[in-house]
Amino acid sequence: LKFVCLSNDGIDEHMVWLIGLKNIFARQLPNMPKEYIVRLVMDRSHKSVMVIRRNQVVGGITYRPYASQKFGEIAFCAITADEQVKGYGTRLMNHLKQHARDVDGLTHFLTYADNNAVGYFIKQGFTKEIHLEKDRWQGYIKDYDGGILMECKIDPKLPYTD
Ligand code: ACO
Repeated sequence: LKFVCLSNDGIDEHMVWLIGLKNIFARQLPNMPKEYIVRLVMDRSHKSVMVIRRNQVVGGITYRPYASQKFGEIAFCAITADEQVKGYGTRLMNHLKQHARDVDGLTHFLTYADNNAVGYFIKQGFTKEIHLEKDRWQGYIKDYDGGILMECKIDPKLPYTD
């Protein structure tokens, strides 16, 4: 089992994993237009943290880091159907936080959570209260009325992964 964080860099193996992740998102997020999923997963300004087991993608999180604003927007998050509720979603989020802090230099995440995923995000430390000053994120993330805006502050020191 391994966790990787990468973007569309033209490397064959990475492309295969990103396509696998795109397929998981398309199936697990049926309300999202498939073209929109493909566009963001393949967009070079987005990154994806993925769980890989036996060279197969089990799930992942696609996000866009806004380095100048020090926050990231989570676009999609999903684990393949038969591997949900086994802890992968939590481990994935911890890898994302570690990478975002140590590599991207981010302090916060924002996401529009689906109603049914709010419980998962709360368990990952997200809140419905947005503490981040509006001028740090307004105009950067697109308004989307299919979900609830949630925020997570990344601890500056905590080791999120072992
Ligand atoms: N609602 C409430 N609690 C949940 C949910 C949920 N939908 N999913 C998981 N949890 C809980 C688990 O019970 C667990 O609680 P515990 O720590 O008390 O045992 C905790 O959250 C973590 O569970 P994991 O096993 O780590 O989560 P999992 O691997 O299943 O991943 C995920 C969670 C990503 C939500 C997965 O269930 C999934 O892919 N769901 C379908 C797609 C989806 O809804 N994605 C999010 C949409 S919003 C967005 O993409 C921005």
